[in-house]
Amino acid sequence: MNSAELNSSRSNSTSKAAQLIVALDFPNLKSTLDLAEQLDPALCRVKVGKELFTQVGPEVIRRLHDLGHEIFLDLKFHDIPNTVANACAAAADLGVWMINVHASGGGQMMSAAKEKLANRSSAPLLIAVTVLTSSSQKELNEIGISATLEEQVIRLASLTSECGLDGVVCSAQEAKALRALTGPGFNLITPGIRPAGFDAGDQKRVCTPAEAINNGADYIVIGRPITQAPDPVAVLKEVVSGLPK
Ligand code: C5P
Repeated sequence: MNSAELNSSRSNSTSKAAQLIVALDFPNLKSTLDLAEQLDPALCRVKVGKELFTQVGPEVIRRLHDLGHEIFLDLKFHDIPNTVANACAAAADLGVWMINVHASGGGQMMSAAKEKLANRSSAPLLIAVTVLTSSSQKELNEIGISATLEEQVIRLASLTSECGLDGVVCSAQEAKALRALTGPGFNLITPGIRPAGFDAGDQKRVCTPAEAINNGADYIVIGRPITQAPDPVAVLKEVVSGLPK
């Protein structure tokens, strides 16, 4: 499928299965494809992050598209407006489903990215990261932010919405407050998801898949609980079947 076909077939469907995004945080193409070949594109989308993209480059996107996967390219751009806008255009050229920037880069940066994608016949969803799910109040204070975590997430989500972006990455713990403030067309993407019994690792603001959806999340992102499992497909199916209707 070429990028135009992929974008035209792209749907924002939030059917139960389409709500799950598997984070393919692998160090090389082989281990990525070994898992991706086992994943049914009807059951999940996939996410390519900084480690994998830096190691492999655009080839990983082409190979995952060949397997029929819709891709969230999670490069979290944060730079001067011109650089971020051009990086977003380059990411959009790859035909991916979703891309992102850091909302803390500011309104001018987000608006430049949005404008850059505006005149394309098809463009990926453009979303912004609020506060990383690995951050707690301590990390916010450490970088000079005295607002509470929830205040900061709400502030950045409001700015993102004002700039016309398609949604935010937030923790599922803030999803309820954000859902109340934003319309249904504004996507809430929530990492930091841990099925019951799985280790939180470096994530601090965690929720189970069902809690996240019940709090109003549109998409849940799960990495290590699936990718490091002895039987990743079994965990994936269990997660999908346990999602609220
Ligand atoms: O392995 P785990 O489920 O913790 O993976 C979460 C994924 O979501 C990682 O790829 C991480 O980069 C990403 N992410 C996150 N927090 C954010 C944005 C993205 O954990 N705020």
